[in-house]
Amino acid sequence: MEQKTEVMGEAAVPTQEPERQMYFMEQVKALVKRRSEEKGRPLTCCINTFGCQMNARDSEKLLGILEQIGYVESDSEDADFVLYNTCTVRDNANQKVYGRLGYLQTIKRKHPDMLIALCGCMMQEATAVEKVKKSYSHVDIIFGTHNIFKLAELLYRKLAGEKMVIDIWEGTDEIVEDLPIERKYPFKSGVNIMFGCNNFCSYCIVPYVRGRERSRKPEDIIAEIRRLVADGVVEIMLLGQNVNSYGKNLEHPVTFAQLLRQINEIEGLERIRFMTSHPKDLSKELIQAMKDCEKVCNHLHLPLQSGSSRVLKVMNRRYTKEDYLALVDRIREAVPDIALTTDIIVGFPGETEEDFQETLDVVRRVRYDSAFTFIYSIRTGTPAAAMEQVPEEIVKDRFDRLLAEVQKISGEVCGRDAGTVQKVLVECLDDHKEGYVTGRLTNNTVVHFPGDASVIGKIVDVYLEESKGFYYMGKPVENMEG
Ligand code: SAH
Ligand code: SF4
Ligand code: F3S
Repeated sequence: MEQKTEVMGEAAVPTQEPERQMYFMEQVKALVKRRSEEKGRPLTCCINTFGCQMNARDSEKLLGILEQIGYVESDSEDADFVLYNTCTVRDNANQKVYGRLGYLQTIKRKHPDMLIALCGCMMQEATAVEKVKKSYSHVDIIFGTHNIFKLAELLYRKLAGEKMVIDIWEGTDEIVEDLPIERKYPFKSGVNIMFGCNNFCSYCIVPYVRGRERSRKPEDIIAEIRRLVADGVVEIMLLGQNVNSYGKNLEHPVTFAQLLRQINEIEGLERIRFMTSHPKDLSKELIQAMKDCEKVCNHLHLPLQSGSSRVLKVMNRRYTKEDYLALVDRIREAVPDIALTTDIIVGFPGETEEDFQETLDVVRRVRYDSAFTFIYSIRTGTPAAAMEQVPEEIVKDRFDRLLAEVQKISGEVCGRDAGTVQKVLVECLDDHKEGYVTGRLTNNTVVHFPGDASVIGKIVDVYLEESKGFYYMGKPVENMEG
């Protein structure tokens, strides 16, 4: 295909991606090198990630670009380049960012040539950008969720003298492949299969800040996973806001179940996880694929949000309590020992005690391995924000009751494999106990057992000696005699 270019100074700048960003990475690399020589040390960068796995994966892409440019990663925010990848799903996520920005200002006073950038979901909200412009003028670059691939270009503009570089896209159809990525873990990785969300649950801001659903082509996904496996990855997490509607809008439509079956064939890959499944789109075909694909982990995260059919309707979730329970039955019939986890919102507008009791009822019937429980947070611009809110004390009381129930059940069910030998993927050294390592079962439960750094990233047979409620203490099988 003919390469289109635009002229910038002397050089011709490619207009196609990813070539354009490759070009800017080279440009910025030279500038970073010069600065680093002046300082007599490498330039450091620090990315602080808020929010979900989607953001975590985006941050790996951002770090990939920064390392390519010549920055060296640092844990400290006293760095030459600090980037906050923000979340806005609940208000406390926003408040954290504003708090940290105040703190960064004090560091920047001491290091005036430090660069500060903000990106991610919160920056897709005009009110947040206005607030940053007005009250946090020490921020240098602001971009959103649709153009993270442009970091090098935006940094170039900043270094070329722009005061505050702001580039927010309303939405996009573009998916830029093949840019550098720097993974946090050598042995496991997230893999985006789709971006955005079309569901517009009435409480949720995500569709407004992440745009409409776009699926990556299966061949791009498979090629990425093959590369990851060749690079030592044994476990992948397929990422999307609603993976069950994967592939519907592709030129050649593919279902999520078909994609799973293809990925299951990849040699050298050991474990496949995925997140998140919307109950309304979880098909029989997918349940069958989960049953047939031996690499698919024994864990399903199936957000409930509320157990009341009335509330679910107002939430625009498009399933009832009965649909959800029937779905759980079908899944358990196909995969009997599967661990189920969920998300629940307490205090959605208009939630009554009876509605809340319905939620408790589902929790008691399903018996989740764990549940993330959230207090409803008003998101400006969503339909639920305009509805009548439940008083704070009532919400707090329900939240405490729900949490107690969830924890009680979780303590009972998580120990179900005690006394058996299971495969554990070792993730790290144990934070709390010298000479121990920490890993996960395929059902995602944590196991601690004696071991050293040599087993990190390996799958080890472990005898689960004792359940401690939310985790196990175990012994590697070859050491059991000792
Ligand atoms: N796409 C996923 C969820 C992404 S957001 C899904 O549909 O399941 C993660 C969780 O945050 C949601 O499951 C929900 O429980 C919670 N959440 C979203 N908006 C919220 C709000 N306004 N207040 C409180 N919790 C919210
Ligand atoms: Fe939000 Fe609903 Fe989309 Fe999940 S499915 S991201 S809760 S709108
Ligand atoms: Fe937050 Fe955006 Fe994820 S709002 S939960 S980081 S999609």
